[in-house]
Amino acid sequence: MKRIALFASGSGSNAENIVRYFAESSEIQVVAIFTNRPDAYVIQRAQTLQVPCFIFSKSAWKSGEICSKLREMEIEWIILAGFLWLVPEEIIAHFPNRIINIHPALLPDYGGKGMFGHHVHEAVIQNRESQSGITIHLVNAEYDKGEVLFQAVCPVSPEDTPESLAAKVHELEYIHFPTIIQQAIQKAHS
Ligand code: GAR
Repeated sequence: MKRIALFASGSGSNAENIVRYFAESSEIQVVAIFTNRPDAYVIQRAQTLQVPCFIFSKSAWKSGEICSKLREMEIEWIILAGFLWLVPEEIIAHFPNRIINIHPALLPDYGGKGMFGHHVHEAVIQNRESQSGITIHLVNAEYDKGEVLFQAVCPVSPEDTPESLAAKVHELEYIHFPTIIQQAIQKAHS
């Protein structure tokens, strides 16, 4: 069984989708959900799903406390599902090519610091792009710069709002994120 931890900063709809996808898996187990926001809705979701949830501070993140906890819990893969803090070098060093992030746009466009959630969709609409989508990638020490594992595209119409575009992007995320996680883990351990 590969033990994975999910990190989420907000609603956590992707985290919930991933937990449900692997609920019956004999290969991958979601061991815990971590969040940096004490008011994040993902905490309620974790409760309903009966997955242990840990809320942590910036100092715990940066000091190595979370890295130690992940190692104690024998976590092998980290999944960032709507998580907004940069990952410290120490965690990247302990989980080389074992951290996967999802970004709600077609990287390398619309990535980098401050580019998350609705900010991304607002920028895409403002630039009158005809398409957007999702990028699933490995995480390195820079925001949104790791190796791309997968991209999927959705159309952007002139009538789209940041909310309607977010809904289209979420749809792609729910379909593809769990299967790409599964493929990446299977490939790395084959
Ligand atoms: C998702 O759309 C994810 O791609 C995005 O945050 C949303 C979280 O939704 N991530 C980023 O913007 C990372 N830079 P959720 O909490 O409902 O899963």
